[in-house]
Amino acid sequence: MSTPQPIPLDAAHFDAKARQWDDNPVFRERGLKIAEAIRKAVPLNRQMSAFDYGCGTGLLSFPLKDALGAILLADSSSGMLDVVAEKIAAQGVTHMTPVKLDLLVDPPPAQRFDLIVTSMTLHHVPDTNHILRVFHDLLNPGGYLCIADLDSEDGSFHGIGVDVHHGFDRTDLGRRAEQAGFADAQFQTVFSIAREREGGTRDYPVFLMTARRAGA
Ligand SMILES: C[S@@+](CC[C@H](N)C(=O)[O-])C[C@H]1O[C@@H](n2cnc3c(N)ncnc32)[C@H](O)[C@@H]1O
Repeated sequence: MSTPQPIPLDAAHFDAKARQWDDNPVFRERGLKIAEAIRKAVPLNRQMSAFDYGCGTGLLSFPLKDALGAILLADSSSGMLDVVAEKIAAQGVTHMTPVKLDLLVDPPPAQRFDLIVTSMTLHHVPDTNHILRVFHDLLNPGGYLCIADLDSEDGSFHGIGVDVHHGFDRTDLGRRAEQAGFADAQFQTVFSIAREREGGTRDYPVFLMTARRAGA
């Protein structure tokens, strides 16, 4: 018998999901709840530049847009970015820019940011320490990092064989963030995703980690 191959959730996977992404009320509510928690945890202002990594259709950045300056929305899926671009045009927004970018293979943007937000994307990035270092280097001193993702789970969130992190242990992620040069990592639960699984409904909590690049 052959060994089952891990199933990657690549850009083609997200391209295929992009048009229906915003139809999911759970995704929309998750974005709103994470944005609300970020607004409470971070002193946002219209002078702050922001970077949303793994932006999807922008469900996190759109609720934050009126509190921020320029926002760069990056994703490796062209399908997701097409939807973002259409929403930007439809709403007449002038300070949000979509960009196709995979920080695992592409060079990082040249500019620096005051805020990085990322929602439900970290578990898709194999090397957590590497991406934390990249985020650190993309921030101005004193800049904020806001990561929303799943708490540790048993792999049932995505299903057997899907090649992603099974959530994150908060203490371990906080330590990794510190090692990457961040200070004052704080965690809170901001949302919970209910999914039907064998044996009934399972709840998958979503945390928000906020931390600052040292050296403000
Ligand atoms: C679960 S979706 C979350 C989308 C959005 N942040 C939200 O909360 O609705 C994960 C997103 O990360 C993107 N992504 C996955 N791996 C990536 C990578 N290496 N670089 C950039 N984007 C990536 C996917 O294309 C997808 O849009």
